Parts: sequence; C-alpha cells; structure tokens
Amino acid sequence: MKIAFEKSSLNKNTSDVVAMFVHQDKKLFSTEVSSIGRKLGVRVPAAELGDFVGKEGETHVLYARRGGKVRRIVLAGLGERSKLSLERYRRSSAAAAKRARSLKAGSLAMFIPPVAADYQSVVSALAEGAILALYKYDKYISKKPDAPPKLLNITFCTEDAAKLKAGSQATEWAQIVCEGTYLARDLANAPGNEIYPETLAEASRLSAERCGYNATILDEREIKELSMGGVLGVSQGSIHPPRFIILEYGDTRKSPVILVGKGVTFDSGGISIKPSAGMAEMKMDMSGAAAVIGTFEAAARLKLPVHIVGLIPSVENMPSGSSIRPGDIIRHYNGKTSEIDNTDAEGRLILADALAYAEQYKPSAVIDLATLTGAVVVALGHQASGMLGNDDALMKKLSLAGEATHERVWQLPMFDEYEKLIKSDVADVKNTGGRWAGAISGAWFLKKFIGSYKWAHLDIAGTAILEENGEYTQKGASGIGVRLLTEFLRRWK
Ligand code: BES
Ligand code: MN
Ligand code: ZN
Repeated sequence: MKIAFEKSSLNKNTSDVVAMFVHQDKKLFSTEVSSIGRKLGVRVPAAELGDFVGKEGETHVLYARRGGKVRRIVLAGLGERSKLSLERYRRSSAAAAKRARSLKAGSLAMFIPPVAADYQSVVSALAEGAILALYKYDKYISKKPDAPPKLLNITFCTEDAAKLKAGSQATEWAQIVCEGTYLARDLANAPGNEIYPETLAEASRLSAERCGYNATILDEREIKELSMGGVLGVSQGSIHPPRFIILEYGDTRKSPVILVGKGVTFDSGGISIKPSAGMAEMKMDMSGAAAVIGTFEAAARLKLPVHIVGLIPSVENMPSGSSIRPGDIIRHYNGKTSEIDNTDAEGRLILADALAYAEQYKPSAVIDLATLTGAVVVALGHQASGMLGNDDALMKKLSLAGEATHERVWQLPMFDEYEKLIKSDVADVKNTGGRWAGAISGAWFLKKFIGSYKWAHLDIAGTAILEENGEYTQKGASGIGVRLLTEFLRRWK
C-alpha cells in the first residue's frame, strides 16, 4: 500500500474515490454538505431527506456530475463534534476506507477535515483507521480470476499548504506503526505449520536485517547451556526445537527498556490437552512475541531515541511421549524450581526464564506481553488488556499510551494475599493457582522470577485474539501491542 500526504483541491482530485468527513451537528452538517455539493455541482438528496446525517461510522456515496475530475465521493460521518476523539477519527476513516474498497477503488484521496485538536494526532488517527481497516489475511486463499483490484494508494489531502509538513510527518508515522501492526497480525495469523520456533526466529532475523536492529537467536544447545528449564521443559514434547530470540535496538549506552513476548507458536495444552473446539486459535499464542517484533520494526524505522531489548522465548506446546508431565518439577534460569501442575499453564514457564534473564541488563523497565490466561478474557473481554506489575509510575505511562492509541490496559491488583495461590508443597512455586483470580495468580507466578527492576505484565489473551471483525480490526489476530508500545516508547524519557 502506498500512503502519501499532499496538497490538493477537491474539484481537481483524480483518485478513484474521494472521501470527505462531515459532522453530525445539524448546522455544521448542512454547511459542510452544501459546500461539498456546490464544489461538485451536485445536490445531495440523501442529506436533504435525512437519510444520511453524519453519524459516526455512517457513509454515503455521491456521484459527481460528468465532466469534472472527481467521480465518486464517500461522505463519512464523524458524529457530533462535542464527542469527537482520536478513536472516532480512526473509526470514521476506517468506515470510509472500507466503503471505498467495496466500490473497487484502486486509489483513495481522503481530505483532512478542519480540526480543533492536535493536528498531527488527528491525521495519524485518520491514517491508522484507514490502513488498519484494509488489512486482510489472505495469503493462503487461491486468487479468484474476478478478484476486485486492491485499494493500493491512499492519499491524505489538505487544501492548506501550511499543513504539508505536519501532515506528512503524521502520515509517515502512522504508516510505519501500522506496518508494524500488519507484521504482528501476519505472524500471529500464520498457521502453526508455517510459524514454529525456528521460523519465528527467522522472521525476526529478517525484520532486524530489513529495519536496522540486531537479532541474536539462541538454539536448543545454547538454551541448555543457560539452563532455561522452562523453555526446555515446555518444548520437549514437540518435534520443533525451541528458540530464544534476543532483539536489540538503539543507544546501548542507555539502560534499556526490555520487552518480553510470549512466543508459544501453538498451544495444544500438552498432556493437559485443551478441548478441541477453538484449539485452532492457539496458533496465535505467540501474539506477545509478534507484538514485540512489530514494535522493534516500528521503533527502528522511526529511529526512536531509546534503547530497547526484546526477549522472546519460543516453543511449541505439544503432547507426546517426550512431553513434560503434570507433577514434573523443573529448574529455571535463576535456579528457582516450579512444580508443573498443569502443562497448559506453559506461558508462565517460558516467561519465567526470560524475566530472570532480563536482570543482567540492569533495565530501567521490563514489560512483558503474553496471551497468558483465559481468566483475563472472562474479566475484561476483548476491550482491555489486563495489566499487573510492581511500579505505579510505569503502569500509569502504559495506561496513558493505551488511551492515546485505544489499545487500552486495565490494572488488576497484586495483593500479597494472592501469593499463596501458587504455593507448592514440593517446589518453590506451582504453575497453577486454582479456579479463581486466574489472571492474578498467573502474574504472581511471573513475579517470582523478576529481578530488582520495574515491571509490568500485560495479559493480552482477550485483546490479541478476536472472535469477530471490528471497525478496523478483523477476526483473528489484532496485532495489539505495537501501537501501544510504540506510543509508550515515543513518550519515554
Ligand atoms: N494460551 C493460553 C491462554 C489463552 C486462553 C489465550 C484463551 C487466549 C485465549 C494459556 O497458555 C493457558 O492455557 N492458560 C490456562 C492456565 C491454567 C491452566 C492455569 C488457562 O487460562 O486456562
Ligand atoms: Mn496453555
Ligand atoms: Zn498458552
């Protein structure tokens, strides 16, 4: 997809479809619509009759008079002006882009509406909505001969030359962050027979090469040398050997922010096997890893002035004669032991090694992302990631980045009383915490393995894996985390 920002005037634009945004407020709406109508020399009966009123997400197609350059206009509602937010811009733009795609447009020009808020944030939001809405995971669908042309060019337009620089910067930013999100979606949507630890590692190596950051891949022998018992234990039932992926970008003189991503390329549950209904979703159990790789790609391309390290333990969790068993006790990187009560609580076992490994970097903060528990989906659904940690200032920063990007996080408590849920009679800690407060006992398990650093854990089980299409997300992998973390890093120190 080609994205640009240009100065253009409505009646001279040559794109297949032109999109214009209008507000729902009655007076404003009629001024906006009549001005568009005047420029194109057409009446807008749908607006006159009240069939199109400019509600958020509502669209209406206008056909210009023959002779002019512009042929089709998509009017896109922004809703009421007093209720405008960056998220509304994203959604309206998404609706316009999808309408243009349904018109089989190859090119789309979107005119930036006059804005009262921060111009660059609005332009970015409009670009994000359009780009993210057009994502489709269709790699394995054999092309039909009558497939419509793809919407390949989106140009954001202003009639005001003074806005060119700010607008171009904002669209470029949005494009890069969205391409990071596309990468995360592609990796997570890819089936388990394509993405397993070796190929996930290879994908991160290629991303590093493409975007100018470092990737070091530890193989099974090196993981053994480091005594990462969690990574080794979970992967031992699979024909695919584990990998431990280390990414690094930026100014190595600064203490790093470390991003840890759960990289379970397929989670069958192992010997504690999952029910078969819905098990296919577990190809996305590496969504945390995908978010970390997508964020590195974005941060490196944006040349953010930060130092970041990415740690991705990657395994496939399978049942077999060589699998880890309930009752087994393993020893992690930092020497602590854990009792395996349930082989389906595998994410925490591999993250334990990674979180312990992080300590040697003397990080200024560690953030882990993991599709860790079904319990967090019960608690928060698909609207917010569960956040737990040991540092309120760090979590506040994540919340603010979450609000700005609408990749929202919601804090859950880590009261000391929850700690006993994961007490083991035979090892230092047990990998399950019983029926209640599952997202919290999962986080408490991780907490046993962190170093002396500031830490936040994001349980993205509900937000990374979607059951239906949204305004600018599709059923399957959402790519959550890339926009959140990139925004967090943009604001970092
Ligand atoms: N990957 C799953 C969690 C999950 C569930 C992610 C649903 C996305 C959607 C994780 O490895 C898991 O199986 N967790 C168990 C933990 C339990 C055995 C303590 C769970 O949540 O049931
Ligand atoms: Mn599991
Ligand atoms: Zn899992």
